[in-house]
Amino acid sequence: MTGSADFRIVHLADAPDAASTLARWFVAEWKTWYGPGGAGDADADLAACESRDRLPLCLVALDAGGRVLGSAALKTDSAGSELGVGPWLAALLVGPEHRRRGVGSALIAAVEAEARRLGFPAVYISTDTAESLLRRHGWQPVGSTSTLRGPATVYRRRLGTGAAPCAVGSGTGV
Ligand SMILES: CC(C)(COP(=O)(O)OP(=O)(O)OC[C@H]1O[C@@H](n2cnc3c(N)ncnc32)[C@H](O)[C@@H]1OP(=O)(O)O)[C@@H](O)C(=O)NCCC(=O)NCCS
Repeated sequence: MTGSADFRIVHLADAPDAASTLARWFVAEWKTWYGPGGAGDADADLAACESRDRLPLCLVALDAGGRVLGSAALKTDSAGSELGVGPWLAALLVGPEHRRRGVGSALIAAVEAEARRLGFPAVYISTDTAESLLRRHGWQPVGSTSTLRGPATVYRRRLGTGAAPCAVGSGTGV
C-alpha cells in the first residue's frame, strides 16, 4: 500500500464520474494537445480506459469524500514510442489545488504496481516536468524524445525489484 490515509487510488473503471473533471484538467494542463485545435480528445482518451486488466488503463486518486485528486494512466503508446519501448506512464496529473501532498507519488507507485501485476518488466515515461520526482522514485533516464511542448526525457523504471507491491482496486486504500 502506498499513499496517504486521506486518499485512495482506484481504476477509472470504478470511478467513471471522475472522467469529466479529469478531462477538464487535461485540457487546461495540456492545451496544445487537448485544447481547441489540438489533435487530442481528452474525453475519448478517458473513455478508452475502461479496463482494469489491459491497456490503456487509468488510475484515479480520490479523497475520503470521493472528490477527484488526480490521475495516472498505463498505455502502450506515448511520446517516445518511436524508441520501441513501453508500456508508458501517461496522463500523470494532480489537480492544481491538491499538489505537494504526495498524491502524485502515490499515483506513480500505483502505476508501477499495475505494470508489475500485468507482467511488464519495466515502465517508461516521457516528461519535461516531473524529473526530480521520478528520479526520487528510482526512474532512470534512458533517452530523449520531442513533444508538442519541446524536448522531453524518457525515463525507465525497472520492475523486477524495488517498490513493494501495491494493491489497487475499487475501494482499496493506498
Ligand atoms: C507532477 C505532478 C503530478 C506531481 O504531483 P504532486 O501530487 O504534487 O506530487 P507529490 O506531492 O508526490 O510530489 C511533488 C513535490 O511535492 C513534494 N511533496 C510531497 N509531499 C509533500 C508534502 N506533504 N508537503 C510538501 N511537499 C511535498 C515532493 O517532494 C515533490 O517535490 P519536487 O517538486 O521537488 O519534485 C503535479 O505537479 C502535476 O500534475 N503537474 C502538472 C502535470 C505534469 O507535469 N505531469 C507530469 C507529466 S509527465
